[in-house]
Amino acid sequence: MSTRAKIIGTGSFVPEKVLTNKDLEKIIDTSDEWITTRTGIKERHIAQEGENNSDLAIEASRRALEMANVDAGELDLIIVGTLTPDMPMPSVACLVQRALGAKKAGAMDVSATCSGFLYSLSIADKFVRCSPNMKVLVIGSEVLSRRTNWQDRTTCVLFADGAGAAVVTGSDDDSGIVSTHLHADGSVWELLTIRGLGTAYPVDENLLKKGWQYIEMKGRDVFKHAVKALESVAFEALNASGWDMDELDMLIAHQANIRILEHLRERLGLPKDKVFINIHKYGNTSAASIPIALDEANRQGKLKKGDKILLISFGGGFTWAGVTIEW
Ligand code: ACO
Repeated sequence: MSTRAKIIGTGSFVPEKVLTNKDLEKIIDTSDEWITTRTGIKERHIAQEGENNSDLAIEASRRALEMANVDAGELDLIIVGTLTPDMPMPSVACLVQRALGAKKAGAMDVSATCSGFLYSLSIADKFVRCSPNMKVLVIGSEVLSRRTNWQDRTTCVLFADGAGAAVVTGSDDDSGIVSTHLHADGSVWELLTIRGLGTAYPVDENLLKKGWQYIEMKGRDVFKHAVKALESVAFEALNASGWDMDELDMLIAHQANIRILEHLRERLGLPKDKVFINIHKYGNTSAASIPIALDEANRQGKLKKGDKILLISFGGGFTWAGVTIEW
């Protein structure tokens, strides 16, 4: 068996500004009751003017590096999962590399929507398995509030901003990432998309009138695909790791909707204390949701050495992924 890749530090950061369901009631035709029962979200953090994706990513990274006791100058690679970069060029990863002074690190963004962190973690895993001395900084970071139509109540109550990070290197024992599983289905991409601001359509009045600069989502259809894909990748990852469901210590799934998480918990037959939930505080932060949850669980002492942990995600594309970790 080759040396496993191990997470040796986690960090997260969310903007200071909090937007509650009550605040949203003043902007659009919605209610705290509707949002809470349909999504589980009570409040979310929103970046203020001038606060960008890379700012959140940098702060989350500093916290992860501090926990890992790794100097930025030791990093070999920085990978950022994001769908809301500061700009198309340079990548968020390059901006993080500059700010941290990670002089010898390569840097790249990975576009896999809400699975961006798990895709990035999987890439880090393969690099580190080949070169166990490598130190890789893996980040999920989003400013979805700037890709959200604040007049569209079907989406604006869901999405929010934040960042999470993890430092990965070769394990000195048997702990670490056990298996990684990546999937995609581009045939139904229109169910969840931001059509504009790429190179397919000119950014003109017509595009802005159609609202193509914002997230469009067929919520019900996405919900159905999400529960099926998450359940399937959960079993796939457990089987590949040789774990039974009752051996699992913690499930950390993409925080998209409390009903998806509850449905999943029932289908997998897991008790409540084995499913980490923080969607009520942060909403859906896409690629940032898993690393924020991972960092919270870690800092709350919920992840113990030797624990069997399953991370699963689902997002636009569609993409979905699973990673098992022996902590
Ligand atoms: N407040 C009040 N009423 C609302 C709101 C709101 N914010 N939003 C929608 N409604 C209304 C609708 O207009 C509709 O009214 P109608 O029956 O009079 O037409 C009614 O509520 C029901 O709407 P649905 O869309 O059917 O509501 P649903 O129960 O499906 O919940 C939701 C919507 C929360 C979006 C859900 O479908 C969902 O979570 N889907 C999955 C989203 C997801 O998991 N995304 C993951 C990937 S995210 C990423 O990749 C970036």
